[in-house]
Amino acid sequence: MVCNLLQGKKGIIFGALNEKSIAWKVAEKAFEQGAEFVLSNAPAALRFGEINSLAKACNSRVIAADATNVGDLENVFSGAIETFGGKIDFVLHSIGMSPNVRKGVPYDDINYDYYHKTLDISALSFHKMLQIARKMDAINDWGSVVALTYVAAQRTLYGYNDMADAKAMIESIARSFGYIYGRDKKIRINTISQSPTMTTAGSGVKGFESLLDFTQRMSPLGNATAVECADYCITLFSDLTRKVTMQNLFHDGGFSSMGMSAEAMHQYDKSFKPCD
Ligand SMILES: NC(=O)c1ccc[n+]([C@@H]2O[C@H](COP(=O)([O-])OP(=O)(O)OC[C@H]3O[C@@H](n4cnc5c(N)ncnc54)[C@H](O)[C@@H]3O)[C@@H](O)[C@H]2O)c1
Repeated sequence: MVCNLLQGKKGIIFGALNEKSIAWKVAEKAFEQGAEFVLSNAPAALRFGEINSLAKACNSRVIAADATNVGDLENVFSGAIETFGGKIDFVLHSIGMSPNVRKGVPYDDINYDYYHKTLDISALSFHKMLQIARKMDAINDWGSVVALTYVAAQRTLYGYNDMADAKAMIESIARSFGYIYGRDKKIRINTISQSPTMTTAGSGVKGFESLLDFTQRMSPLGNATAVECADYCITLFSDLTRKVTMQNLFHDGGFSSMGMSAEAMHQYDKSFKPCD
């Protein structure tokens, strides 16, 4: 459905790795809705080459950046301003990585070098982007910035490890900078708390298939897909949500408000049967 919700808007989309990525779906939807944008990912991710096909399809420039590196990020924002001949209107932060999760290091025996990397890549990078964009005055008034997060920031979910801490931090950064940006520039900053989704980052989490099944049974609307998440991002980049800011917005089919559902209880009951 094309209704040009983002007609005339320019942006930066961080984190499209392959076609499963949430950022990839956002790029496709943003293009469909008339936006122009720069794509960015880590140099290592760009070497896989898949982003070039997305860039071609969306008529976008790709600028490499390690999201932990301030110089790289400055380059992305100045590159976008140069490409569009002026300021941008939206930014998507869709970046997450935990070496502890990746290497199966448990939370109670955590590797602190890895922990620093988790927080730097998955949370501080958001602060860096916002600070750089503010110093450069890179975002137009009434612009919109969105970062992806997960309910493990509020509730403990087995296997999510130090990413839970990173998500708590990124949600807090959105609120802290949301005040500053809102007050000075009417720019809104929100996080979207997405259902578990079968992407490269998602499938790295221990027991991910079981988690997907559990959240599907627990969510009255079912798990939200990457494409549905992209639709939600588009509404937040559009002018239809100009007074929504500093919010952590659950996009999870209702999971975050549930305690127990009939579908989950049914499955749980079945697990007792062999023991009876
Ligand atoms: N998949 C899920 O279940 C789920 C659920 C809720 C929230 N999220 C969040 O959604 C966001 C996107 O993840 P995804 O599920 O699309 O997975 P994905 O693996 O497709 O995307 C993660 C991205 O982070 C990038 N990245 C990692 N290190 C980087 C660095 N140093 N510099 C720049 N980029 C770097 C990767 O290259 C990749 O493009 C993440 O913040 C993730 O935590 C995912």
